[in-house]
Amino acid sequence: MSIDIVISDNADEAGKLIADEIATVIRRKPNAVIGVATGSSPLPIYRALADKVSSGLNATEVSWFALDEYLGLPPRSEQSYRYFLERHLIAPLGLDPKRLHVPDPSDADPDRAAQRYETEILQAQVDLQILGIGRNGHIGFNEPGTPFSIPTHRASLSETTRKANARFFHDSSEVPRECLTQGLGTIMRARRIELIATGPTKADAIARATAPPADPKCPASILQRHNSVRFVLDPLAAAKLT
Ligand code: GLP
Repeated sequence: MSIDIVISDNADEAGKLIADEIATVIRRKPNAVIGVATGSSPLPIYRALADKVSSGLNATEVSWFALDEYLGLPPRSEQSYRYFLERHLIAPLGLDPKRLHVPDPSDADPDRAAQRYETEILQAQVDLQILGIGRNGHIGFNEPGTPFSIPTHRASLSETTRKANARFFHDSSEVPRECLTQGLGTIMRARRIELIATGPTKADAIARATAPPADPKCPASILQRHNSVRFVLDPLAAAKLT
């Protein structure tokens, strides 16, 4: 088991490579289950995928499962990950929003919502999971120190992550402190995993994630234990690989 690493010329090329992989999965299995990430990094993937759909790829039967969702935002907030994925993935691909599954932040009992999502995603069985990575090595919202075996759960955001994500909010005080996230154990059950990382702020996290041994201090390092995982990087994110 080892992480396959590909270094593309730039973020757009990295996005195209992963969109190619998604298209291959969909052509082989039109009702595939695909896990999707938010943040800036996956945007080139979703743009390239929309081009493929314009050129005839049929993605209407795919089920899409989000990695995570903030807790505590107003309903229909434009900062929610549901809104993000509807805007950047579902609408450009012309898909029915009902095909998108996101952990439910409106449940009065977030632990129950997490359990429900875990059951739903395990029953669906993810064929391909797309990931970004946080500057501190988090995947989903599994922050450093999260146990490797954890299922979908309610989690707190670290201050580093709140600062990094503040750019999506009008004011940094609006960044939620909690979320629901697929756990590391959930992510590891996907049949295949593709992680995209671009830009210099990801270089440390990528170096740590790929250096054995896997250690909960860098949550993405658990991916070393997966048997079908690829990191698609640009030269800046790959700069500290040894
Ligand atoms: C958030 C998301 C992660 C994402 C990370 C990095 O914390 N929960 O799934 O990978 O941000 O985002 P970006 O790609 O914008 O750097």
